[in-house]
Parts: sequence; C-alpha cells; structure tokens
Amino acid sequence: MRKKIVAGNWKMNMDLGEGVALATSINKQLITEPPDGKEVILCTPAIHLSIVGPLLNAPGLSTGAQNCNDHRSGAYTGEISAAMIKSTGASSVIIGHSERRSYYGEDDELLAAKTAEALYNGLRVIFCCGEVLAEREKNIHFDVVRRQLSKALFVLPREDFIRCIIAYEPVWAIGTGVTASPAQAQEMHFFIRSLVREKYGDETAEDTTILYGGSCKASNAAELFANPDVDGGLIGGASLVREEFLNIVKAL
Ligand code: PGA
Repeated sequence: MRKKIVAGNWKMNMDLGEGVALATSINKQLITEPPDGKEVILCTPAIHLSIVGPLLNAPGLSTGAQNCNDHRSGAYTGEISAAMIKSTGASSVIIGHSERRSYYGEDDELLAAKTAEALYNGLRVIFCCGEVLAEREKNIHFDVVRRQLSKALFVLPREDFIRCIIAYEPVWAIGTGVTASPAQAQEMHFFIRSLVREKYGDETAEDTTILYGGSCKASNAAELFANPDVDGGLIGGASLVREEFLNIVKAL
C-alpha cells in the first residue's frame, strides 16, 4: 500500500525563530488530531533541521531538506552533504526542484548523483519533475517528464527506487496561483505510474507515492487528492501558513 504524504517546502523562508514556532504549532495540532496513517514532512531550510527535528513527536511527522550536495564530503565550501542532513534526524530530501534546475543549472546527471548520494545516506528522496509552460504548449510535457525520470530515477535498482517519492510539479503552476486542473494532474500522475510499471513492474508502481505540487492550497487540495493517482502534495507557499497547511493535511 502506498503512503499518503503531505510535504511542506518552506523554500528560503522563515528565520529560525519563525520556523520553530510554525513547526511546533503544527506538531501540537497533529498530536491532538493525528493524521491517521498519513505522513507529514516539513522541508525546512537546512540550517533549521537540527533544531526543529528534535522538537517534533507527532505521529507520522518528520523533517526533510530541500537539497543536498552530490559529493560525500570534502572541500565544497558552503555545501551540505546528505550525511549531515541525515545526522539531524531528517527523513527525506527534495531533489530536482524546478527552482534548483533553473536557477542553479542542475541537470539530469547531477540530479542522478544527488539522488544516489541521498539514498546511500539513508534519506528518502522526494524527486521533482515537471514541464515548463512552453513545453506543455508544444505538447511535449509527457516526453519531458519521461526524460527527467529516466535519467535520474530509473537508473536505480528497484530496492533503491522504492525509497523515492515522485513529485509532479508543473513549473507553470509553482507559485503562480494557477493550479493544474484535477484532470491534468491525474493524467500526468497516471502516466508517471505507467512509466514506473514499465520499468519496475506492477507492485512497485502501485506502491509508489506520487505527489502533486504547484499552487496547491486548502481550497483546492481535496479535489486534487481525490484523484486515484494523486497520493498527496508538495506544498510551497501554503506550507508557511499554519491553518492552510493543516487544512491541506486534513484534505488528504
Ligand atoms: P507552491 O510551490 O505551492 O508555492 O506553488 C510548490 C513547490 O515549489 O514545491
């Protein structure tokens, strides 16, 4: 049975005090109203992880990072390794977010290396894929997503792949207020699951969690999550607002 997950991607928001306040308040609410077998992951700025992580004890609640380096350790000034992230108690790391791909030039090859490094260190990978608007308009969005997954994820043996969560995030929907329609999300998620099936077989495909991301908020979460192949969300802006985020968790 695949896991249902809501992950908050805080991006470069919240100083430490604000982050601690938000995370502890979410934790408190999830103790009162446990998310019932579902998982909630707070992907905070990396510098918050060692403080925020130990404060969380609600069932199913954990922390994650938003990026990691592709090297194990060494002279990479300013970088953060997967081992460091793991040592804070974090469960997961986002790899391949479109902002990393576009602002920092992260390509498929680098993302494959980061994914391998994260898995080596026992982290789960939340692997992001998704097309830009021009690609959808040219009707090549399926090809784009197939390439992104083939190059960085489908190179993994099955025992590693099953520790990955896929997040479909159409770039035109991220932070824009324009959400993919439930039908557009379902169509792509169904396609992604069929790619997983082709590569790893039926059981793995059925067990793979596929999240939707891109302007997902409390008001549209339920209709997105109602789709059979949408197993939760990767939430940016709305994860910074306690009530919004908790209502998205409830919608799941
Ligand atoms: P958004 O971001 O919810 O603010 O659109 C989602 C993401 O980038 O993960």
